[in-house]
Formats: sequence, structure tokens, C-alpha cells
Amino acid sequence: MPEDFFGEQVAARYDELSDEMFAPSVVDPAVDFLAGLAGEGDALELGIGTGRIALPLAQRGVRVKGIDLSEAMVERLRSKPGGAEIDVEIGDFATTTVAGSFTLAYLVFNTINNLTTQDAQVACFENAAAHLEQGGCFVIEVGVPGLQRLPPGETVRPFRVTPTRLGFDEYDIAAQGLISHHFRVVGDRLEARSIPFRYVWPAELDLMARIAGLTLRERWSGWKREPFTSESTKHISVWEKSGEAGTVA
Ligand SMILES: C[S@@+](CC[C@H](N)C(=O)[O-])C[C@H]1O[C@@H](n2cnc3c(N)ncnc32)[C@H](O)[C@@H]1O
Repeated sequence: MPEDFFGEQVAARYDELSDEMFAPSVVDPAVDFLAGLAGEGDALELGIGTGRIALPLAQRGVRVKGIDLSEAMVERLRSKPGGAEIDVEIGDFATTTVAGSFTLAYLVFNTINNLTTQDAQVACFENAAAHLEQGGCFVIEVGVPGLQRLPPGETVRPFRVTPTRLGFDEYDIAAQGLISHHFRVVGDRLEARSIPFRYVWPAELDLMARIAGLTLRERWSGWKREPFTSESTKHISVWEKSGEAGTVA
């Protein structure tokens, strides 16, 4: 089982520290997009966390199930209105299975990068595909690797600098990895935590999808279907279970 970087201490403050990601202007377009793809079917969220997306999606009438590694995050989900009705399996979303079949599986907020090897990311696509009905879709929201912003010879880029919070990404280009270092001033203390990620390019994700029997259907730079361009810093990609060559037996 991979290491759980979202234990009790992180879970207790997750919603507060990610408050900008809970804003209706961020959540509503994502939920509109996902509800449209789910249609009349069920949805499976990989890395469901505290239910930022799953709860409003369920409120739209989509039956949502989830997988997450962190008991502590899922406890927060269960304590919210409607949370107890969402079935969640505790486990690694690269390998854990959930009963049912789904028209939609989705993995948002850069969480594919929490899988730190290519094998694990491929396994995640295979696992998502195995849960989908024919014609069902797998959606990923993830940043485009920020290497254009990294001058030759340097390995560290700040992603947040405020008087009370600092964040730095430390790149290991040869290994296609990065460690996000987070620092927070709490009273007279400095809290620190570091999380490893594997960044991944859109084209590599398309190959992973092909291995899993999925084909690219849509790629956008935002949930309102804004065009994906050379300047885009993130993408929302939708792969469809086609049942053609490449399907895992
Ligand atoms: C950044 S949070 C996102 C939570 C939620 N999807 C959201 O958008 O707010 C990442 C979540 O993925 C979970 N996670 C990370 N790696 C995982 C893995 N390999 N298997 C299952 N869950 C994982 C974490 O426990 C955490 O709840």
C-alpha cells in the first residue's frame, strides 16, 4: 500500500487550507462537466478525499462511489451532510476495486501525480477502465508539467509565497519526479511537510489510456471547455472506453 500523506493532521485542515478549491466558481463547473458525462449512470471518484466534488455531484442526483487511501479524509466526508450515503473503499486507487459498473470514473486536483511510478499510473488507468461500462469515460484534471518555468541547472520553483505560507516544488528531471515542500507559520512555529509526486505529460497519459483500452475524446484547459493550447497550465482530459484494440482482457 502506498504511504498515506493525508493522515489525521492534514485531513483536519484540508478543507480550510484548500478553501479556494471549494469556491463555487471552482466546484460548480467541474460538477456540471462531470454530471453531464455521468448521464443516468453511476460515477466513481478515485481519491475522493473529503468530498469536495463527490458531495455536490451526488446532490445533482448522480450516484457516486469512491476510493481513498486515507481513513482520516474519508471520516471528514462521512461527517458532512450526505456523506454517509456515499460508499467508499479504503485502498490504493491503482488497484482497489468497487462493486458496480460506472459511466464515469474521475481523478481530479492533480491526484494522478500522487502515484509516483509509471507502473502505478498505468495500473490506475487499467483499474479505472475495468470499472467502466462500454462508452463510459475516465476524466483526469492535472497540471501540465511546469518545466518551461525551470531555468537550466535549477531544480526548485516556488508555487506559493505569502507571509504565512510557502511552497516549493523540487524537481528531479531524470526521474520525472518532484517533491512539493509546504511550510506554514502557525503562531511561533513553522510546520513543514513534503509530498512526492510523479509529473506526467498529456501524451504519456494518452498512451496509458491506450494500454487500458481507452481513447482520447476531449481535452480542455478548464471545466468550461476552454481550449487547450501551448500556454495552458492544466488540462481536463476525457478518455472513452471504446472496446477496440488494446482492451485489457
Ligand atoms: C489532493 S486530495 C484530493 C481530494 C478530492 N478529490 C478533492 O478534489 O478535494 C488527494 C486525495 O487522494 C488520496 N490519495 C492519494 N494517493 C492515493 C492512492 N494511491 N490511492 C487512493 N487514494 C489516494 C488522498 O488520500 C487524498 O484524499
